[in-house]
Amino acid sequence: MVDDDIVTEDRPPVEPTGGCRPLPLPRRPAEPTFLAAYPDYASTALLDDLRATEYDYLDGQDRVYLDYAGASVPSDAQLRAHLERLRGSVIGDPGGTGPASEEAAHLIRRSRDAVLRFVNADPDEYCVIFTANATAACRLVGEAYPFVPGSRLVMTEDNHDSVIGLREFAKRARAGVSAVPVRHDLRLDQRALMRALRQGAAMRRHSFLGCNGLFALPAQSSFSGVQHRLEWVGVARQYGYDVLLDAAAFAPTNPLDLSAIHPDFTVLSWRKIFGYPAGVGSLIARYEALERLRRPWFSAGSTQAVSVRGDWALLAADETAYEDGAPDFLSIPDVEAGITWVSDIGMEMINRRVHCLTGWLLQRLGGLHHADRRPLIRVHGPDDLDRRGGIVAFSVLDPYGDFVDERIIARDATEAGITLRTGALGNSGAAEAALEVTRRAADAAGRHEPATADEYADLLNAPVGSVVRVSLGLASNLADVERLIQFIEDTYVDRFPDLTAVPPRLHL
Ligand SMILES: Cc1ncc(COP(=O)(O)O)c(C=O)c1O
Repeated sequence: MVDDDIVTEDRPPVEPTGGCRPLPLPRRPAEPTFLAAYPDYASTALLDDLRATEYDYLDGQDRVYLDYAGASVPSDAQLRAHLERLRGSVIGDPGGTGPASEEAAHLIRRSRDAVLRFVNADPDEYCVIFTANATAACRLVGEAYPFVPGSRLVMTEDNHDSVIGLREFAKRARAGVSAVPVRHDLRLDQRALMRALRQGAAMRRHSFLGCNGLFALPAQSSFSGVQHRLEWVGVARQYGYDVLLDAAAFAPTNPLDLSAIHPDFTVLSWRKIFGYPAGVGSLIARYEALERLRRPWFSAGSTQAVSVRGDWALLAADETAYEDGAPDFLSIPDVEAGITWVSDIGMEMINRRVHCLTGWLLQRLGGLHHADRRPLIRVHGPDDLDRRGGIVAFSVLDPYGDFVDERIIARDATEAGITLRTGALGNSGAAEAALEVTRRAADAAGRHEPATADEYADLLNAPVGSVVRVSLGLASNLADVERLIQFIEDTYVDRFPDLTAVPPRLHL
């Protein structure tokens, strides 16, 4: 689909965009204009110092890293803290007895407390369950949620696929499922959301359920950077829903205050906040909501006692009832170290810096044109700074205004030493909205039972298979943004992309 759209007989000869090239250096000094437009940036100079010391490996390898929504980058201090802790004490399986086990249990407890402080959650109201990642945290809720016929799962359609997947648990219990649409600007259709929440409330009046069901809201879209109004948490709770707040894309660059919004379940992924450890996430759960869950199984680690002959099991009385097997006791203490690291910098400072750089990035992308003034870039989602974070999804347009296949951009960026992201970005709902995939086309494509992501992309008949995403974080600087812009300008202005050697999509 995409390839045929781009190359036609009467087009000028292709000028290949591939080839191994050095990382582009910005031609014009952008700093004075940038600083004039974003004077607040100067107050974040501490992060420039840290970039030169704690994150010096980023520049040492002459790479541009623009995938903070995938994973942030660790500071040297965090890595040192890890090594010092391991070298300085004997830490054993916390399930055992003895000093090594006690040390591990103590460190894990400290990390739980640090998490509660980080999101300003009252320890009398909330507990922290450690998981492997945010996906595992979502699954803990979904598989244990007491969906029944007449209850509902309401989700905004721009939730991460790891949240959308909860619908399978709801469907199995014959509960209703609604995916509330986002508009073409990828902001929430608020009327549709109200309708969906009210519909559940109306059904509740005819049932004996204690609760309407579950409402899942991403605090920030991992696709478009759109930040939803957190007031929806309170509204949904008033309508009788438990609320799962996916803060995985929001918390890395925005202060999160659970005491102000009281979600029932909040999911986080620590690698997105401070880069290391990569394999720890958290479910921060209200005790009261946790009591409604029914674990579908038990395991070592999550029980106080198990009888095989008696066919019963007694789950642990605390949050460990949700932690299966041995926890990652060598990495979970790094969560405390990471929280201390970003808290010492200050989330407000990180937020301010990312805000300024995002504004500049959007401005620079919007200023890119082909020679005939046709735009080079289509931003998916808001192109201003109103209620958005440092995640920008876009497509590159060729001189005829057609979308450039995202795999070409992935290939060219890799050759230029730039890490960005292409695909549906684990956010199929937002991608479908951005590329205007209709329900009918999506249903029809599903009925064809495509065997590969490419086949599916062709069946959708969208202008392009998927999009490009760049995301900024605590170690981003102006040079990163300028180098990206320079790369795009050098590679795509007035040029048709070379479609040879485009690999098949492994996933959308
Ligand atoms: C908003 C959001 N939710 C959930 C996830 C899943 O996180 P993890 O990969 O830690 O399971 C991601 C990851 O990209 C995300 O951005």
